[in-house]
This record gives sequence, structure tokens and C-alpha cells, in this order.
Amino acid sequence: MNKSTLIENYNKVYNDEGGQQVYFAPSRVNMIGEHIDYNGGYVFPCALSIGTYGVATRRDDRNIKMYSENFKEFGVISVSLDDLEYKKDHDWSNYVKGVIQEFVKKYSINKGINIYITGNMPNGAGLSSSASLELLISVILNDLYSCELDMITMIKLAQKVENEYINVKCGIMDQFAIGMGKKDHAMLLNTATLECEYVPLILNEYKIVIANTNAKRELANSKYNERKSECESSLHKIQAVKEVEFLCDLNLEDYNEIEYLLTDVEKRRTRHVITENLRTINSVEVLKENKISEFGKLMIESHLSLKNDYEVTGIELDTLVDLMMNSEGVIGARMTGAGFGGSTVSIVRNEFVDQTIIEVGKKYNDKIGQKVDFYIITIGDGVRKL
Ligand code: GLA
Repeated sequence: MNKSTLIENYNKVYNDEGGQQVYFAPSRVNMIGEHIDYNGGYVFPCALSIGTYGVATRRDDRNIKMYSENFKEFGVISVSLDDLEYKKDHDWSNYVKGVIQEFVKKYSINKGINIYITGNMPNGAGLSSSASLELLISVILNDLYSCELDMITMIKLAQKVENEYINVKCGIMDQFAIGMGKKDHAMLLNTATLECEYVPLILNEYKIVIANTNAKRELANSKYNERKSECESSLHKIQAVKEVEFLCDLNLEDYNEIEYLLTDVEKRRTRHVITENLRTINSVEVLKENKISEFGKLMIESHLSLKNDYEVTGIELDTLVDLMMNSEGVIGARMTGAGFGGSTVSIVRNEFVDQTIIEVGKKYNDKIGQKVDFYIITIGDGVRKL
């Protein structure tokens, strides 16, 4: 999407005299390391070249006007800086309001903005459309109101909005990947310390294919919070006998020692967390040695652990991963993101990509009665002004 078209589209919605600035925030895919960013583990996400575009200008009054091409049915949503409370019927714009509220509280912003949003990523598909919007708005406010915040501050602010305003108790992976992404690289992020190593992810003879199940994700947020509290209760019990800060500080030997303390559900959740952390570290090692098929095997193990121990997959994700794995040329597939619907990520040999998309799409439709949307992705840079 080019800048002048975006500004033209903005001008169809607002009557401004000028001053429009254009910004972009990517979406993200996590290659491996799922549901461990709130347990102090390693994750391995990358920013995508698809995402959310925003055009914005400053206003002289205290009004905020928001329009999204992806949610046209809401028209222009208008609020004032004095009334930024969460409102269910404000739907997508709550993410914008939450970020603005933080900026008003902490950085004394006292004038409004007009915002035009459009995206070329699917919403609610497990590719972090919400974190993409949150970081986009942070960068817009930071720029238009010269707040001079660094990226880590904006990443943490966006996570706080998601945790407290939206009430999803997420970790920091999505906001970090969107804020700090780097073209052609995945990030090995230690979520306990925020140390991050950029690892080249150029898979010459393979493509990374994302497949959106298009499953409804109605209970996703409450289920997500439930998993987080199961981990907390498990950690709490373990801390009574062992000095640990996070579940990911444990190895499998530790687990065998302490599992008697846990309920059956807590055992499975904890086992996923520990094994997923080890798999993530391992997967980056094999990737550095260019052992792509080993990486693919770890993706499958990750999916099975998310299915059986963490129970966040469901019929749509499991069907899609099975179909992918039974297709010629696919060397690894797993769910990505929070789960409960959303998308899978797969590594597919170049020459089999077209055939896989047609065949898997058809079989999934026959079995689930839904179409799959496929994306052959490229890895891009983090959020920025264009
Ligand atoms: C969502 C959350 C992340 C992370 C993933 C699961 O995307 O926002 O913080 O927990 O789920 O790995």
C-alpha cells in the first residue's frame, strides 16, 4: 500500500487541511515457543510484512476520531479525551482508546487526533491484529505529540493496555515482535530478561505458509486467562518447595521431583511449559545448523503438546495440522499464537506450495465446512513511520 493512496483514502473520511502522517505496524507469527511468554520462557516469533497501516493528524480540540476500513460498519467513532472508558460496543476502537488513555495519564497528552486505519492482515486469526493496532497507535501518539518514548517503553505500554484495559493477561511476545521485528530474521526472545537474539530465517528452498482456520474464537480470551491462572497456581505450589521465579526455570528432572504436588491439570500445563521451552531452545540450535527437517519435527511436537497437555487447539487447528503433515513437501506444521482457533504455521518445500494449498484447502472444507485462507509470508521490520 503506498503512502499517497493511504492519504487519499484518509481524505475521503476527514476534511483536513494537511499534516497527515503515515505509519505501519506489522503482524507477527510465532515459529515455536507457545504459551510460555508469561512463564519466563524463550519464544521465537517474527514480524510479518503484512499488518496495519495508519494515517493520522493532530486536532486542536480534545476529540478523537477513529475510522477503520476493516470495520466500515462502525463508521467514524468519536470520543473525547475525557471519556476513554472501555465500551463493548466500541469494539475495535477500544484498543485505540486504551493506548490513548495511557498516554493521557502518563505523558499528559491534551489534544486529540483523527485516525484512519486499514490493514492487509486478517483480524482475529492469531496473528496479533490487536497488538499491531496498539503499537501503531503508540508510535502515532509518540510521534505527533513528541513524547520521545523508546520502543521498549511503548512495547510495555501496549502490553499493559492489553492486560488491564482489554483484560487479556497476555505475555510480552506479540508486542515485542511487532515493536522490534527485523526483516528476514526471527527473534529468540528470553521473556524473563527481554534479551533478544536475531536469528536469520531465510529458508531458500522452503516457504513459510500460514493457514487461517476461520474458526470462531468466542471464548479465546477467557480460556487464555484460565491457562495463565493454572500456571500461576502450579508455580505457587512449586515455590513452596523450590526456589524458582518462573515455571520455565524448571527442567524435566525438577518436574519429576515436584509433580506430586500438582493436580492432573496442573501437571499437564506445567509439562507443556517446560518441554516447550526446551523445544524452543533446541529448535534455534538446529535451525542455525540448517537442519530444517529437525526444526519441522520440533514444530509437530510443539503442536501435540499444545493439543494434549495445554489443550488450546481444537478440531479446526488439529485437522489443519494433520492435513498439512499428510501433504507431500510439508516438513513441519503447528498452531501459532494463543490457539482456540486462529492459524497454523507450516514449512513447505517451494515446489509443493501450490498443490498443498489447493489440496489442504479442499479437504479442510470437506471436513469442517469452512474455507482456509493461506498466506505465504515474508518477514519484515517492526513498527515504523513511513
Ligand atoms: C497470545 C498472547 C501472547 C502469547 C501467545 C501464546 O498471542 O498475546 O502473549 O502468550 O498468545 O504463545
